[in-house]
Amino acid sequence: MRNSLAQTDLAFVLHPQTDPAALEAEGPLIIERGDGVFVTDSSGRRYLEGMSSLWCATLGFNEPRLARAAAEQIDRLGTYHTFNRRSNPAVIELAERLLALSPMPDGKALFANSGSEAVDTMIKLAWLYHSGRGEPERRKIISRRRAYHGSTVLGATLSGIASMRGAFAWPDPGVLFAEPPHFYTGAAVGENEEEFADRLVAEVASLIAAEGAGSIAAMIAEPVMGAGGVIIPPASYFPKLADLLRRHGILLLSDEVICGFGRTGEWFGCQTFGFRPDMMSVAKALSSGYQPIGASLLSAEVHEVVRAEASRLGVLGHGFTYAGHPVTSAVALETLKIYEEIDLLSRVRTLAPVFRAHIGALAAHPLVGDARAVGLIGAVELVADRATRRPFAASAGVGARLIALALDHGLILRNLGDTIAICPPLIITSAELDVLFTRLRQALDALTERLPAIPEEETA
Ligand SMILES: Cc1ncc(COP(=O)(O)O)c(C=O)c1O
Repeated sequence: MRNSLAQTDLAFVLHPQTDPAALEAEGPLIIERGDGVFVTDSSGRRYLEGMSSLWCATLGFNEPRLARAAAEQIDRLGTYHTFNRRSNPAVIELAERLLALSPMPDGKALFANSGSEAVDTMIKLAWLYHSGRGEPERRKIISRRRAYHGSTVLGATLSGIASMRGAFAWPDPGVLFAEPPHFYTGAAVGENEEEFADRLVAEVASLIAAEGAGSIAAMIAEPVMGAGGVIIPPASYFPKLADLLRRHGILLLSDEVICGFGRTGEWFGCQTFGFRPDMMSVAKALSSGYQPIGASLLSAEVHEVVRAEASRLGVLGHGFTYAGHPVTSAVALETLKIYEEIDLLSRVRTLAPVFRAHIGALAAHPLVGDARAVGLIGAVELVADRATRRPFAASAGVGARLIALALDHGLILRNLGDTIAICPPLIITSAELDVLFTRLRQALDALTERLPAIPEEETA
């Protein structure tokens, strides 16, 4: 083991989303410092962080203004709550600024500590909304295979990723799964993107007809599906889906935990993909990942019903101790101020074509079946056979091997199976993008050299 800190980690820390055996064999990667888009581990090795930590560090890893905002707020008021009419200046200013950025400026924000909690909150509010409108039997939720909506029991139950569900999903919860809009693996022979999107929306229509619209409260969807494989939908998918759901009185909940705050080139993913949600969950980049904060945003129409129903019941019976916490709120508020001052959207829009060109160039690599990007999020999907789109056997762990090689080349990325996600801090420069993609290509080439070592039957 590299050092005693690593041994102490192994002795006491249970790591989420980690294979315990691999952790014991290889030890933890202990990150000690950050500078801009780079982080440094406990042995002094410096990496370009191509995943913004977990899709969140938009402003990189040591923004001094965020440190000051936290310190000043702790000096003034280190903690307080927002139950029972209590409020604080930081959360008030944050809510106003956040809603002004959002496509629901006359709506309301309800704060939480994470994306999972913001998602759970939206579902509870969807139920309250329908109950307020005299349709309490609308309880079912439509999600999608490969969706990721968090790690709470409800988040896992809404998620369509096998490892998240297993022992963890709530049995028979009334969650219905639609197909993900992944053209590369999902399109039928000869189908174009628009036909593919039409078929998927028609399948949702059949699902609604089979279950009965009157039993369905909402559909939840990430504009770009992140942890499920950076799945970018065809342009016509969301507008048609939103129209279908509206006709059936089913709320559309946009899970913006990854897409929010400029990632796709607009403030929110729903704007990039052309739909108006009834509620949105945000987290991660809301504070550039510097503080654990999330929020559920409600449209004015949803809020009006929720408000009346909560008032009839005497209370909005929901809330987390740290919702609207003054310190997390102050950091998030400062983050939003920085976004506006550096004109974040223009930066992303200027760099997006450069990013897309880098990813597009990787499409010709012999291991890459599909390469896709929008804004500053993208992926390359590794396949055994480009012509037939045949994937590698999962047991070959090809994606994980690439990530390990990338690490050797000083680059942190994340594999989602054999899809390699790329989601750098939004402050990255064009020169740093060159470094990122040079290192990724070196890792791909190193993997190509090693691939004959994978036994034949494993790639079949
Ligand atoms: C789309 C989406 N929703 C919800 C979550 C859960 O957020 P958290 O891990 O902050 O609970 C995530 C986390 O990656 C996510 O990507």
